[in-house]
Amino acid sequence: MCGIVGVTGRADTTNLLVNGLKKLEYRGYDSAGIYVSNANGEDHLVKAQGKIKNLEEKITDDVMGTTGIGHTRWATHGVPSIENAHPHFSEDHRFYLVHNGVIQNFKELKKDYLSEVTFQSDTDTEVVVQLIDRFAKAGMDTEQAFKKAISLLKDSSYAFVLMDRQLPETLFVAKNKSPLLIGVGEDFNVVCSDALAMINVTNQFVELHDGEVVKITPQSISISNLAGERIDRAPFTVDIDQADADKGTYPYYMLKEVDEQPAVIRRIEAKYLDHAGNIHFDQALLDQINQASKLYIVGAGTSYHAGLVGKKLFEKFTKTPTEVVLASEFAYDDPIIEDQAFFIFLSQSGETADSRQVLVRVNDEWQKPSLTITNVANSTLAREADFSATLEAGPEIAVASTKAYTAQIAVEALLAVAMGREKTNATAVNFDITGQLSKVANAIQTVVDEKGKIEELALATLRKTRNAFYIGRGLDYNVALESSLKLKEISYIQAEGFASGELKHGTIALIEDGTPVIGIITQSKTADHTRSNLQEVLSRGANVITMVSEDLANSTDDILLPVVDEMLMPLVSVIAAQLLAYYASLQRGYNVDQPRNLAKSVTVE
Ligand code: F6R
Repeated sequence: MCGIVGVTGRADTTNLLVNGLKKLEYRGYDSAGIYVSNANGEDHLVKAQGKIKNLEEKITDDVMGTTGIGHTRWATHGVPSIENAHPHFSEDHRFYLVHNGVIQNFKELKKDYLSEVTFQSDTDTEVVVQLIDRFAKAGMDTEQAFKKAISLLKDSSYAFVLMDRQLPETLFVAKNKSPLLIGVGEDFNVVCSDALAMINVTNQFVELHDGEVVKITPQSISISNLAGERIDRAPFTVDIDQADADKGTYPYYMLKEVDEQPAVIRRIEAKYLDHAGNIHFDQALLDQINQASKLYIVGAGTSYHAGLVGKKLFEKFTKTPTEVVLASEFAYDDPIIEDQAFFIFLSQSGETADSRQVLVRVNDEWQKPSLTITNVANSTLAREADFSATLEAGPEIAVASTKAYTAQIAVEALLAVAMGREKTNATAVNFDITGQLSKVANAIQTVVDEKGKIEELALATLRKTRNAFYIGRGLDYNVALESSLKLKEISYIQAEGFASGELKHGTIALIEDGTPVIGIITQSKTADHTRSNLQEVLSRGANVITMVSEDLANSTDDILLPVVDEMLMPLVSVIAAQLLAYYASLQRGYNVDQPRNLAKSVTVE
């Protein structure tokens, strides 16, 4: 949610900023802007509404500098417009600021300190840059003024990069709750919300902690806390293959990421399994989690849906009662937490503010052990949980999550079986996880290889419809929820996932002539029941599509899914649903990777 970049000490600063912003566009695309200056203080500010390409079109050859900042926005306070685009600047154009996060008390600050200032925008961010200017005018140096302004921010989240025209080669940086990394170069340094943005110039990054402030020049990085104490921190190496972050010949990242899923499953196998079939997780994690009398899985959106599947895996293989909670709800609930509770956080980005809010309570209030399963090894949730495990999915750039969902389920399955083996649970001990994951990878490959059929189905049933429903039971219901989220977020079809047995209790009233109803059938125990429910909607005029495991299928079914163990069928059935959503979005003429109103990595609550 909002992406920021900064560069100091490079003649190609403008290019680096724009290319970095393109890599961060998944974080928001309501507006974008850059500010660059050179050592003589000659500077340029360029802003545009909408996507980075609009900004790029406005950047003329003379917009050059050796230091600069850039921003791509997901609007919170203030509509998407040029005025509300970052960088924001002080009245006298001395200070320029980019911000990711939300300043909760900006109205009070405006009233208490800035009643005489004429504001250019409706944003919370502008208040901060005007405050800095005010404190500088009162005699403070830039760092003091920056720290003073930050000290007044209440309950706020921020990643800031500030520039001062009087110090044209220096970046001032601070963060609280929002992600920010410093990239280390030779005679240059960079700042970014995500290492992806700058991985083409460095793979050495320094992480920042909440409450820290940094002064960066081409030759130096000086980190201190708000009390002024100096902090030394060594860089770590970010291991991202540049090719993973590029679209290659694909029209959209989403299609590339759907296609990558067999490879992701194989990478997960390589990371967590050895050739003898042993599963490798941190032994301290297994010891601790196996003492739990209850597991909580915390997530949002697609990660929450992966948690619903996880609950069934943990309960089956470990017999440990498991509750799955929506982070945004649980963060402010009053749950009764068992003494031996253990928390599992699922988060692709590792930065989701709702999930982090729960983790803060887990650590501070409930003081319970936790594990984060994430795609980003050094993310906030990974750092702040007691244990972390990675998804090995590679960068996920399309806003609609695909490979992270399947990776989350695969890692949950491995963890559940590893825990169950330690507990000598017979189901876990007898489960051939190595063989099953290999079958899953092959089964996913078969589904992605048959995308032509799914494209035709989307054209026939989803191109014009206003609404559509997914139905299923048990694990199929869990996948129905994820499938409908995929469809609604990128095709804007009003889609819902229903437990098929519940239709008759109310929701069947929604079925009209031609309403698409997609039935997922992969669980033998409930296959006949779901088929009966499909008959009920069929006789009320629904346009039924079926996605069925080959061993439960008949000749009239639409999408046949190669068979793997039923517990892992969500990893196969969801692929067909991802592709249906992809083609529905494409055929309706939308930008698949950047659906309206959304951004990836949701760092506001
Ligand atoms: C949907 C989607 C979102 C995310 C949710 C949580 O396709 O991507 O629903 O799953 O915002 O994000 P993470 O997993 O990064 O915590």
